[in-house]
Amino acid sequence: MRILTVCLGNICRSPAAEAAIRAAAAEEGLKVEVDSAGTGRYHIGDGPNPRSIAAGAEVGLDVRGRARQVRLEDFDEFDVIVAMDHANYEDLRRLAPSKHARDKIHLFRDFDPASPGQEVPDPYYGTEEDYRAMVTVILPAARGLVDKLKGWDI
Ligand code: 4NP
Repeated sequence: MRILTVCLGNICRSPAAEAAIRAAAAEEGLKVEVDSAGTGRYHIGDGPNPRSIAAGAEVGLDVRGRARQVRLEDFDEFDVIVAMDHANYEDLRRLAPSKHARDKIHLFRDFDPASPGQEVPDPYYGTEEDYRAMVTVILPAARGLVDKLKGWDI
């Protein structure tokens, strides 16, 4: 099972979501590969934002990686592609090369039964508190996704 998390820059939200899914899957003993990417090119090659690393570390998440942009092959290589916000979702839908590829795209917080349709707010221009809030909404979405994957036969 391969999961790709996607935000705009691939330095704040999607690396934290990647870490949260990896942690939730490990807790459940579910074997997954998780990666993250951005729809934008602004931060290609950069590590995660230090505030994202710090907010994740506070709840035991290991936020790491190098930013990259979404590529066409991702729609083949990943089984599930989760968008952090509606703009990411719409951009991914436009990029998807087929209906099969489009069907892999989900809004991340739709997996949190308490927050369907909600976005993971972009904390980039915010405060450390906004980064903590980001992690707070990511955790139940990651758990919800892993719960769902346990029932999927991929
Ligand atoms: P992310 O946050 O999409 O969660 O990684 C952002 C990072 C960079 C920019 C915007 C959002 N930017 O405009 O450079």
